[in-house]
Amino acid sequence: MKQRTPVVVNILIIIGLLIVFYYLFVQSYAFLGSPYFWGTVVIGGILAYIHSAIGDLIENNKFKKLSSEEKAAYLAEKKVPFLKRMYDAAFKKQSAAEEKDILIDHGFDGIMELDNQLPKWWVGLFYFGTAFCIVYICAFSFTDFAHPLSEYEKEYKEQLAAIDKYNKEQPPVTIETAKYSADNIAEGKELFKTNCASCHREDGGGGIGPNLTDNFWINQPEKTLFKNVFHMDWNGSPNNPTMRPFGKNGEVSGGEIEKIAAYVYHINQEQAPVTQAQGGAAPQGTEAHWEKE
Ligand code: HEC
Repeated sequence: MKQRTPVVVNILIIIGLLIVFYYLFVQSYAFLGSPYFWGTVVIGGILAYIHSAIGDLIENNKFKKLSSEEKAAYLAEKKVPFLKRMYDAAFKKQSAAEEKDILIDHGFDGIMELDNQLPKWWVGLFYFGTAFCIVYICAFSFTDFAHPLSEYEKEYKEQLAAIDKYNKEQPPVTIETAKYSADNIAEGKELFKTNCASCHREDGGGGIGPNLTDNFWINQPEKTLFKNVFHMDWNGSPNNPTMRPFGKNGEVSGGEIEKIAAYVYHINQEQAPVTQAQGGAAPQGTEAHWEKE
């Protein structure tokens, strides 16, 4: 007759499983203060006691049917503490006599197979894994637990907040602090495409607005080319409202103008001008003599 697991151990296992399951659904340990959690612990405990009481009855009945030697052996085994019994069972090896009982003879191929019992720790892990799997699938399907989309949303919002914070703490870029940097050209090109290309063309060759790749400029309020572009983009043209004050209007920030101006500097100084033959606008204004940056 098999020895039974003490009810305390069953209750501890129940509490452990309940903590895992609650954690999966609540996703914090806040449930430890909730009456629902303790309610289920109490119900689980009561069920474990009922299960144990029924077990006691069955055990008594079976015990009566044992021979006197079997009774003695059973009582002796019962005295061994539970944990030691578990440990022994987990690593127990069959004796030669016991092995004989569990040998399966295939007969036709002469191979003998030992139909060993699986180790207890293995079976325990298997049952736990199966139960965990079911709860995990439910938690994954019906809650936000480990859900890639909701995790993505959360991280995305955190990143946006971090960018916002960074932008707020960063001093705004003004015409005094703006600097040309080749690293800004690529981003400046994209910003130019969205904000300026409708009038100046993507390559800066001009259309409604003047050609920004040649050396002729209508407006020359600043001494260097980079600052001049910054100035125009921030303040707009004093003569022609079509070139509106993008910076002052808040359509583009100082930081963005710094990048756009780097792109315009690049196409004006580091590339050949877009000629009329290439569809560029004819030179307007007077020739500029920019100071070095
Ligand atoms: C709605 C059309 C339009 C848009 C959009 C526009 N511009 Fe202009 N831009 C003009 C016009 C027209 C002029 C000529 C102003 C004048 O005659 O004084 C001009 C002039 C300029 C000048 C001075 C050129 C010169 O020869 O004096 C610069 C620099 C400039 N724009 C940059 C930009 C940048 C950078 C953007 C994007 C942020 C932009 N523009 C968007 C129409 C536009």
